Amino acid sequence: MKKILIIGGGAMGSAFSIPCLDNNNNVTITEPHSKLFIKKLSSRDKFHPSLKINLPKKLKYRQFSVNLLKENFDLIVIALSLSGIDFIGQELKKLKIKTPILVLTKGLKYEKKNKRVLTISEQLNRNSGKMNISVLKGPCLAKELARKNQTSVIIANKNIKVAKWIGKQISTKYYLIEYSEDIIGIEVCSAIKNIYSMIIGSGQSLNTSSSLFHRSLLEMKYLTKYFGGKESTTLGLAGVGDLYVSAAGGRNSKMGSYLGKGYTFKTAKKKFMPNDTVEGEQLVREIAPFVLKKINKKKTPLMINFINAILKNK
Ligand SMILES: NC(=O)c1ccc[n+]([C@@H]2O[C@H](COP(=O)([O-])OP(=O)(O)OC[C@H]3O[C@@H](n4cnc5c(N)ncnc54)[C@H](O)[C@@H]3O)[C@@H](O)[C@H]2O)c1
Repeated sequence: MKKILIIGGGAMGSAFSIPCLDNNNNVTITEPHSKLFIKKLSSRDKFHPSLKINLPKKLKYRQFSVNLLKENFDLIVIALSLSGIDFIGQELKKLKIKTPILVLTKGLKYEKKNKRVLTISEQLNRNSGKMNISVLKGPCLAKELARKNQTSVIIANKNIKVAKWIGKQISTKYYLIEYSEDIIGIEVCSAIKNIYSMIIGSGQSLNTSSSLFHRSLLEMKYLTKYFGGKESTTLGLAGVGDLYVSAAGGRNSKMGSYLGKGYTFKTAKKKFMPNDTVEGEQLVREIAPFVLKKINKKKTPLMINFINAILKNK
């Protein structure tokens, strides 16, 4: 039995607690940001508002504090959305933590000062010195994991032994884990698929979407290699696997379908999805300054035109 701390009580952090508990771990969840999640997770019945289930009674809730991070956990899991990464990076920086860290968050950050794009593990390590960071990505709808539907994900660390150690602690017969040393490739794929699933969603027929799927995959291969990952990673769970689930259902492809119908982003957001976070759009705004300047337009026409459509609200 290991002691696991999950930071982030949103849909993914909470769903992730379920295989961790089923693997007989001692699991604590904490929420640093959302008053709603704090209220629900600290309540008796632990009814989760996004997952629409009662989380297991064995799941412990603790208030977020720096002292909590200092406690003797065997694994710390970060399940915040991209906007929480700066915050947790600053908190961890103060502590020089040796505990293995597992990042579930998907996304990339543009570092204005040095004009470069960083993966989340690069950003955390830049903030906090050399931490022992692994990433877990792949096709996983939090609601399905919470229902214990069979789910396959991939853990990456340059030191594959660390990735395998984590996998052993959290895998169950419904939560299956693959491993990779290509941490950069896994992070890049799992982030940019949010943009390509919007592009695929914009197709107004299955034929059109399939042709966009094919072109998206070629561009994902190119970009993964450009940022220092392996091309072959694109064909794995964090690439084509996650692209499938995001294009088939989810907020990014839903927004894409409105764009394909001819709505501008602003109108579609206001009219159809006012309360939804569209991660693909957030990533577009984050990496646009870099992509538009540095990336070969001939190799990535979908990405370039899509960025322009969002930025210019076309
Ligand atoms: N690795 C995987 O298998 C997998 C699967 C699905 C989703 N995800 C990723 O997990 C992340 C969380 O997704 P989710 O569905 O739980 O989202 P969610 O909206 O349900 O939860 C977001 C979490 O981030 C926190 N947060 C938001 N803004 C913050 C801020 N400014 N400062 C600090 N904390 C902040 C919220 O309080 C909450 O805990 C996303 O990046 C998503 O892409 C990973």
